[in-house]
Amino acid sequence: MAEKKRLILNLFEMNCVSHITHGLWRLPDNNRERFNDIEYWIELAKLLEDGGFDAVFLADVVGTYDVFRGSADTSIREGLQIPNNDPAVVVPAMAAVTKHLGFGITFSTTYEPPFAWARRLSTLDHLTKGRVGWNIVTSYLPNAARNFGHSGEVEHDHRYEIADEYLDVLYKLWEGSWDDDAILADREGNVFADPAKIRAIFHHGKHFTVEGPHLPSPSRQRTPLLFSATASAAGTAFAGKHTEVVFTGGPTKEFVQKTIENVRAAAVEAGRAAHDVRFVAIGSVIVGRTQSEAEAKRAEFDRLSSVDGQLAHAALPWDPTAYPPETKLGDVIGEDDGGIGRWRDVDGEQTVGEFLAGFSQAGRGPFATTGTPEKVADDIESWLDDVGIDGINLLQYHSYDTAKDFIELVVPVLRERGRLRTHYDESESLRDRVFGAGDRLPDRHYGARYRGGTHLPADRAAAFSG
Ligand SMILES: Cc1cc2nc3c(=O)[nH]c(=O)nc-3n(C[C@H](O)[C@H](O)[C@H](O)COP(=O)(O)O)c2cc1C
Repeated sequence: MAEKKRLILNLFEMNCVSHITHGLWRLPDNNRERFNDIEYWIELAKLLEDGGFDAVFLADVVGTYDVFRGSADTSIREGLQIPNNDPAVVVPAMAAVTKHLGFGITFSTTYEPPFAWARRLSTLDHLTKGRVGWNIVTSYLPNAARNFGHSGEVEHDHRYEIADEYLDVLYKLWEGSWDDDAILADREGNVFADPAKIRAIFHHGKHFTVEGPHLPSPSRQRTPLLFSATASAAGTAFAGKHTEVVFTGGPTKEFVQKTIENVRAAAVEAGRAAHDVRFVAIGSVIVGRTQSEAEAKRAEFDRLSSVDGQLAHAALPWDPTAYPPETKLGDVIGEDDGGIGRWRDVDGEQTVGEFLAGFSQAGRGPFATTGTPEKVADDIESWLDDVGIDGINLLQYHSYDTAKDFIELVVPVLRERGRLRTHYDESESLRDRVFGAGDRLPDRHYGARYRGGTHLPADRAAAFSG
């Protein structure tokens, strides 16, 4: 019999008060307001590692949600991703108190040029001994664009074009700029590193010009584990070429299955194997010792869940709360408002009341389950085997109770069923944990082409003439 697929288990976090479960920061003993404290992150990291999580996945945005009701006021009132802090900066504190927990860090390719980011991620990969991943985003908020000198959002497919070149620069720095044996540390001869084994990259492209060499020496993974979330054609082609773990949201099981199928096909198109990509879905899990305990928790979450917060997060360009509930959506939204909600399709026949009901529930995303540990484990197994995901990013309703409940109630059942590791391997990088094939990008990944300086211009003149 084939071995059972093991769950990749991540916690979905953000360095802010209200990430996705808006309104729930008000739950008794919720620690969300402590996100400015280093102790918050230290306690969280220890909890997750003791509980057997693979990684903490840190979302990020670099602007406010200011489309709904024409301003950021709703977001500000809700603590909706503002205030927020830089996700990368909390990683060393968590790494210092753990040995195995991985870190997925979100960063956008649209606004800050690649050289400094390559250096920061290499530094983090060194400090964590190979435990970092990067969630590559291109940023969707108009306010983010205005924060970085643009007049409005950079056009969608153009953002992916920039991202593609961005990654090219990074692979040249991470994979091509230093040979593994460049550091000699020869005290007698007073030679720290060998200049013959370190090279400039002389990247000269449409969006970026970077000479190099990369400033950090090669870290354990060199290129950190690459994540992205997408469903669009441009994003799928990008993921097929670059991404190792795709993070999927989406409204339904079928949507997730289609995403998996499309990205795997794009990976094969890009010369990779279909299984070079893993899929992690948002996991909305509300667990109790009994079904009724779980349902009572869910009812409390629903009661405190903020519809205003969810509408602002969805960046609705119109305000459904301003219409009588029986109004048909088709009668109030214009053609150009079709982008309602970033992850939502709109049916013109639906009423405003029905539409709003979808925003009032705490259980979110395609994978939502409420019940006993056995029921939750059954649903997770079904998603692993029937839908084809490889893991979940556990959505937090309460910090730290969501993670604590999962660890106490669900982890033992998943372990018993052979779906979750019982211990960490002593010295594993994040990539090795996920793929079991070593620390580095596989040879057939596009980024591997620069190893040893291959495919790099010999000098500056060659870069500018080529
Ligand atoms: C589950 C999930 C989490 C995401 N997290 C972030 C995030 O933290 N920051 C961000 O800027 N975008 C985030 N996004 C948005 C994606 O990066 C991307 O813009 C979105 O999936 C649309 O991609 P597409 O236009 O290629 O289909 C997330 C998307 C999903 C589905």
